[in-house]
Amino acid sequence: MLALWFGRISVRLTSPIGMEELEAIAAGAPQRAASVTDLEELEALDSELLGKRSKLSELQRTIGTLPPDQKPVVGQAIQAARAAITAALDSRRAELRLVAANALLESDRVDVTLDARSFPLGAAHLIQQTIDEVCDIFVGLGYLVAEGPEAEIGWYNFDALNTPPTHPSRAESDTMYLEFGDPADEALLRTHTSPMQARWMERYDPPVHVVVPGKVYRADTIDASHLPVFHQIEGLAVDSGITFSDLKGTLAHFAREFFGSSTTVRLRPHFFPFTEPSAEMDVSCFACDGGQSGCRVCGGAGWLEMLGCGMVDPNVFEAVGYDPAAVTGFAFGMGVERLAMVRHDIHNIRHFIENDVRFLRQFP
Ligand code: PHE
Repeated sequence: MLALWFGRISVRLTSPIGMEELEAIAAGAPQRAASVTDLEELEALDSELLGKRSKLSELQRTIGTLPPDQKPVVGQAIQAARAAITAALDSRRAELRLVAANALLESDRVDVTLDARSFPLGAAHLIQQTIDEVCDIFVGLGYLVAEGPEAEIGWYNFDALNTPPTHPSRAESDTMYLEFGDPADEALLRTHTSPMQARWMERYDPPVHVVVPGKVYRADTIDASHLPVFHQIEGLAVDSGITFSDLKGTLAHFAREFFGSSTTVRLRPHFFPFTEPSAEMDVSCFACDGGQSGCRVCGGAGWLEMLGCGMVDPNVFEAVGYDPAAVTGFAFGMGVERLAMVRHDIHNIRHFIENDVRFLRQFP
């Protein structure tokens, strides 16, 4: 009993000293925290100041032995000191975490500016670019774009197009025939895109507004302006009341869009079996603006021959089951290589098939 009482006295006597020390520990905590340089050191400091063996905990354990009037005073002082120390440690902890996170970002850095292997990007071939551009112009006028078969039969390539069996273009020397199916069908590689006129009208009722790009084949020897395989774009418009001026207006619009807004056109009488009347259309030379002797593009003529066209022959309407008394229409066909050669000043058609990248790269 006495011993215990003495124990209390001794606690009572030491506790003010403990309190002073406590205040000093709390007051010094921010500085101690500031002096540690990594999180590991900080945790060591944390257990030194707040852990089970800290002065704080030591003092806390004596509370029970204090006289009742001292208990709350010491208790509150310990709470305040613990709060102050915790705050100092937490704010330093936040700082050190940020430093550690930045150090990790720095050490983990990937230099994304370093070139990976680069792949050269190609481009559509000039022929395809030209086809796309021409089709776009007609799509802007409400035309559809369609493609047809390159292997045809005589009916679509010739007969339905009012071309008699005796026509010279049907000769073996002009047309590449295929050994396929019934010889009476005259399987062949189409010599123009015009067979799609017949195929389209056979399938769909008027009104018709369609353009048909594609490959065509002729038994020609390769030279600077001929290839046995080349490209055409066919056009067909059929409705009630379509006139020759619609043909001219449409094609003049096309020429201005494709060759430039100051381009003019002229129509020269011509003959095609499937159009009547027929014409060839020339465009004014965009390089010399109409007749400068020795012009590199038109040679001084002032005009560039561009395409064939005409009003659809009534016999073609008959062949596809349209009533020639009810509808009229126009058709045209242009050579894609020729369009590109004229526009880009290309003097040899062979460039299109030689795959020389020095040529191809000029049309990115
Ligand atoms: N098919 C003709 C040719 O290849 C061009 C053409 C098409 C002419 C349509 C008139 C109408 O030369």
